[in-house]
Amino acid sequence: MTTLIASGQPSIGAEERAAVDRVLRSGMLAQGPEVAAFEREFTAEFGLDRACVAVNSGTSGLHLGLLAAGIGSGDEVIVPSFTFAATANAVALTGARPVFADIEPRYFCLDPGAVEAAVTPQTAAILPVHLYGHPADMDRLGAVAARHGLALFEDAAQAHGASLGGRPVGTFGRFAMFSLYPTKNMTAGEGGMVSVADLQQERTLRMLRNQGMLRPYENEIVGFNARMSDIHAAIGRVQLRKVRQWTAQRQAGAAFYTQHLRGVVPPETAARAEHVFHQYTVRVADDRDGVAKALRAEHGIATALFYPTPTHRLPAFTAGYDLPETERAAAEVLSLPIHPSVGPAGLERVVAAVNTVVRAGG
Ligand SMILES: Cc1ncc(COP(=O)(O)O)c(C=O)c1O
Repeated sequence: MTTLIASGQPSIGAEERAAVDRVLRSGMLAQGPEVAAFEREFTAEFGLDRACVAVNSGTSGLHLGLLAAGIGSGDEVIVPSFTFAATANAVALTGARPVFADIEPRYFCLDPGAVEAAVTPQTAAILPVHLYGHPADMDRLGAVAARHGLALFEDAAQAHGASLGGRPVGTFGRFAMFSLYPTKNMTAGEGGMVSVADLQQERTLRMLRNQGMLRPYENEIVGFNARMSDIHAAIGRVQLRKVRQWTAQRQAGAAFYTQHLRGVVPPETAARAEHVFHQYTVRVADDRDGVAKALRAEHGIATALFYPTPTHRLPAFTAGYDLPETERAAAEVLSLPIHPSVGPAGLERVVAAVNTVVRAGG
């Protein structure tokens, strides 16, 4: 019986367990010195030119980042539909309206031309997603934002360490959010990290995550409890020391797949982009679901569909959009296991299985 290769899997070792134990023994579990150190170390590891604020999830990071930037009722924020629902959820939770724009087909990220066509007098901001770990076209999106006086933000949930023209993601937008969910390129168990350019917005963000206060019981605004615990931060700090190596493993695995896979369309990387391969996502034009089923049933390889239903067609959001590239991607994409635990033998197993299944016609 062959062992199953999981589609996504956190890498947790003795160091993470020891770090959690250290915090548990300290008796101080809530947001404290571990969170403060994690924020500083995150800024340093990813070469960010600004402060980071840790929160309890990536979704909270987007929501609070948008609120701190002044987004709310009456505003429209342009987002991709081809992403996890959290992107549009965060916009809707502020009272603003997510407006969905199509993606460009090569890198699965927002198409700047489609974004420009979606601008209305109500548009306040653009929130691109660096999907699968590939940076969105921030130069052209920045130009659209500048032409129309819009704010530019970043959903970097999947893109720790990605860059464009040598400039790290998380430094292009007024704020950017990195998710620390277990299957992301690094994890804190759960959590989110927000890099924020403006000192006033950073201050607001710190208050929003903690009941509107910076000092105990001096509450200045209405806020949430979106704090990260020191237990989670301690895990994240250990993972920060490993993420560079894991990214290199993901990139090497991706290069191996692209060289050896046959009969599927491999992902492309834009000329000035560094892709960190949160996902290695191919297109299977013919019977994608049959291929996925055969890989699991006959070869013990789990794959994943990110995302089978575009956000604009989910019941929480309005349909009535015509987003052909989004629809085509949703019908064709298939993410193969690329996490560091797959290992060289696993990569070879995946290649052999995909090539066999595709040759046999799904
Ligand atoms: C693109 C994208 N945006 C937002 C989120 C939300 O992050 P979290 O799950 O940490 O709340 C995720 C991850 O789940 C994501 O992949």
